[in-house]
Amino acid sequence: MTLKKITIAIDGHSSTGKSTMAKSLARRIGYAYVDTGAMYRAVTLFALREHLIKRGKVDEPALKQHLKQGDIIITFRPTKEGKSVTCLNGKNVERYIRSMRVSNVVSIIAAIGFVRKAMVKQQQAMGKDKGLVMDGRDIGTVVFPDAEMKVFATASAQVRAQRRFDELRAKGDTTTTLEEVLANVTERDRIDSTRKESPLRQADDAVVLDNSYMTIEEQNEWLYQLYLERANS
Ligand code: DC
Repeated sequence: MTLKKITIAIDGHSSTGKSTMAKSLARRIGYAYVDTGAMYRAVTLFALREHLIKRGKVDEPALKQHLKQGDIIITFRPTKEGKSVTCLNGKNVERYIRSMRVSNVVSIIAAIGFVRKAMVKQQQAMGKDKGLVMDGRDIGTVVFPDAEMKVFATASAQVRAQRRFDELRAKGDTTTTLEEVLANVTERDRIDSTRKESPLRQADDAVVLDNSYMTIEEQNEWLYQLYLERANS
């Protein structure tokens, strides 16, 4: 069986384990993996460090100028352990972009049109030779509308909230309640799907993966079989 090199777009709601599934599929089939959420997070980190976000408002002209001047270069560097780390201007920022400080304001940065335009351009350049798995919110709709394989990951809000809650508890957070997490998940869904710029929506030709009641192994196998089908045709 000869398999052709394809583009794989994985979009979907937050806390559906998109990056986990995208990463393991990429590893299994020897494809590159790009986490586009990490790119929006890196721009957010830059803006925070440059004090361009004040009381939830972004200094858009200044940010635009920095982007234009090439002051915000985002790359992914492979590690010895076979992982990939996000770099901002050559420095590993993985630890900082996952902080609450960044998580709290990243959706504001991700809603800015010129930021999205710059990120989409970089993402398209990364994928020009195919052979990659990219996850995000607009990959199958905007970045690679011609991708051979498009997946839209979802799960019920309750299941996603429970997963996030378990993660928080495992990290030592003993104060946040399940109700608070559920409210946050629902609010993020609302912001992601109603924003003006590239709202989260399922591409017409995407296959829905509802993993509410699937194990990680079942999910990985489901994705692999879909890949074989698409790369073989
Ligand atoms: O997947 P994540 O939580 O790391 O994404 C961070 C933020 O970036 C989140 O607010 C959604 C947004 N995002 C986006 O708008 N488009 C993408 N392609 C990826 C992420």
